[in-house]
Amino acid sequence: MSAQPCRFIALNSALEVLVYQTSKDASASAAARIASLIRSKPSATLGLATGSTPIAVYQELVRMHRLEGLSFSNITSYNLDEYYPISPLNDQSYRWFMHQNLFQHIDIPANQAHVLDGTVPAHAASEHADQFDRWIEQAGGLDLQLLGIGRNGHVGFNEPFEASLIDACDLPTRLIELHPVTIADAAPAFHGSQNVPTHALTVGTRQILKARQILILAFGKNKADAVAASLQGLAESEVPASLLQTVADRVVWFLDEDSAAGLKV
Ligand code: F6R
Repeated sequence: MSAQPCRFIALNSALEVLVYQTSKDASASAAARIASLIRSKPSATLGLATGSTPIAVYQELVRMHRLEGLSFSNITSYNLDEYYPISPLNDQSYRWFMHQNLFQHIDIPANQAHVLDGTVPAHAASEHADQFDRWIEQAGGLDLQLLGIGRNGHVGFNEPFEASLIDACDLPTRLIELHPVTIADAAPAFHGSQNVPTHALTVGTRQILKARQILILAFGKNKADAVAASLQGLAESEVPASLLQTVADRVVWFLDEDSAAGLKV
C-alpha cells in the first residue's frame, strides 16, 4: 500500500497538490495511480517522461509488473522528448533511458513504445514531429501524462518563451532550441556543456494539456522556485508548467517537503 501524503495543499478548489515526506513515497503514489489506470483500461495511452525524477516511479511499475502481474502488453506510450541530434545508442539519449529504466523490464511490445527519433535528418524533423502528434491523436489522445519540471519551469522541452497564453497552450510537437538552464543542468551527464545537444524534439503543450490525467512530479530544493512559480504565479509562457493551471482539474502535483518549501499556504 502506498504512503499517504503528509500534507494536502488546496491552493484553489480544483488543484490537487500532494506533499510527501520523501520522494520515494510520492513516486510510489504516482505509480499506484498509473497502475490503477492500466488495470481499469489495459489499452491506455501513456505520455512518459525521462530524467532523474520518474526513475522511482518506473522502478515501482517494474516491481508491480514482476510481483503483481501488472501488464503493459496493450499499453501504447509516447515519450515527451528526445535530444537532437542524438543516437539511440548514446547512453544520454532518452530512448536509451527508457529502455534501461522501463521498457526492457516490462511486457510492452517495442512497436507500441514511441520515442521521438533523434536521428531523423534535419529536413525531415518537422514532418516527424507532425507525425508524432498525428499518432497521439489517432490513439485518441493521452489518457495520462507523466511530467517532471525543469528548474526553469519547463515541461517536456517546452522552454520558457514569450507568447500569448492561447499560443503557449497550443504548441505542437516540434524541434526546439534548449534553454541555457537546461543545457547547464544536462552538462554533468554529457561531461561538459559543450557536449550537450543544442536542440531537442519535444511533444508540445497541445497534447500535454489535453491529457485526461496529468501527474507532475518535482523533488528537491532546486525545484522549489519553479514549483512555487508554477502553482502560485501567473499562468504564462515564461513558466511553462504554470500553463497546467489552465487544466487544473486534471492535474495532480506530487511533491516532497523540499520542492514544496517555496509554497505559501
Ligand atoms: C524529460 C523532461 C524534462 C524533465 C525535467 C526535469 O523527459 O521532459 O522536462 O522532466 O528537465 O528533469 P529531472 O527529472 O532530471 O530533474
